[in-house]
Amino acid sequence: MSVVFSKERCMARITFQGQTYECSADEPLLEALNRKGCNLPYGCRAGVCQACMLKATRGTPPATAQVGLEKKLQKKNYFLSCLCRTDSDMEVALPDPADKYHASIVFEKEFLSPSVIRLRSSRPDGFTYQPGQFVNLLQPDLGLARSYSLASTGEDNFLEFHIRLIPGGRMSGWIADTVENGTFIFVSDAMGNCCYNTRYSDSPLLLAGTGTGLAPLYGILRDAIGHGHQKPVELLHGGLNSEGLYYRPELQQLAERHDCFTYRPCVLNGDAPAGGVQGAIDEQLQQLLKSGHDWRIFLCGDSDMVNTMRKLCLAHGIDESDIHTDAFG
Ligand SMILES: Cc1cc2nc3c(=O)[nH]c(=O)nc-3n(C[C@H](O)[C@H](O)[C@H](O)COP(=O)(O)OP(=O)(O)OC[C@H]3O[C@@H](n4cnc5c(N)ncnc54)[C@H](O)[C@@H]3O)c2cc1C
Ligand code: FES
Repeated sequence: MSVVFSKERCMARITFQGQTYECSADEPLLEALNRKGCNLPYGCRAGVCQACMLKATRGTPPATAQVGLEKKLQKKNYFLSCLCRTDSDMEVALPDPADKYHASIVFEKEFLSPSVIRLRSSRPDGFTYQPGQFVNLLQPDLGLARSYSLASTGEDNFLEFHIRLIPGGRMSGWIADTVENGTFIFVSDAMGNCCYNTRYSDSPLLLAGTGTGLAPLYGILRDAIGHGHQKPVELLHGGLNSEGLYYRPELQQLAERHDCFTYRPCVLNGDAPAGGVQGAIDEQLQQLLKSGHDWRIFLCGDSDMVNTMRKLCLAHGIDESDIHTDAFG
């Protein structure tokens, strides 16, 4: 009898899109509903990116699943399904775009390399952000949301994203195949703290990233230069081969125009790119760390590489608070 009672207490009846599912309180709602085929959007699965946000249209979500959400969203019963373990019955829905998302119109789509697309879209009225922050892009018809970093700066009157095409990837595939000039996309408020701050004006900056990790770094770099940063700024951009090193002319031009800025492309395979080296990005980072500067560090892109580089920085005595990361999950 006690076994049945405890089992019943730990199950919630969750209604989504007209279907009701029995979900265990031992498992995050995101995992439980997706295992049952609901196809809910998600990103980090760790309460950071807010891509998995749902709204309780009946019942109350647990406060632990509302951590980090704006007060106005909490009041409307929004919650993060990756953090939600509950034994209370609820009816839940995908976010109402009007509550959480800004409409933006794509006006330029360009392949920067065979596997990287640059999207430029209108900057919605009242949309504020710091270069290097990220937004969630919502595809309401497919019920998809994914995080993308902002490569644009306050000087640009548009939003710029660099999107890597993932084979079989649902959002990147939709962007590659369907998005065109005139397509509406829906962007969340900007999030994250991997950004330049004028408090860093007396510090040399070390920016390192692989692939589309360049998107936030490009925003941070131009933001620093735009704020008149004079101390050295080093940018390490790593690719598997030289095809992966997009934006080389733009970065070389910036380096020619600004004495403080050095662009260091590096490739794992094939010949060294002009002005760069052949070798692993973490080894290049280690060389720069040996210079003993009092660096402010920004690490972006593939999560494993971001973690590897972060550990290297800590091992070289860089304070945790001087390391800013944007790991793509
Ligand atoms: C804070 C943050 C910022 C981000 N910024 C950017 C950005 O500026 N540019 C960008 O291109 N991406 C960025 N990403 C990654 C992005 O959110 C998506 O995860 C990525 O575009 C894949 O989505 P998808 O729907 O195309 O693939 P999915 O349909 O989600 O995945 C398809 C398959 O590919 C695998 N997969 C998913 N992501 C990757 C990956 N990155 N590398 C290798 N395999 C993968 C999955 O495990 C799955 O097997 C960011 C992620 C986070 C958390
Ligand atoms: S998937 Fe839930 S916050 Fe990122």
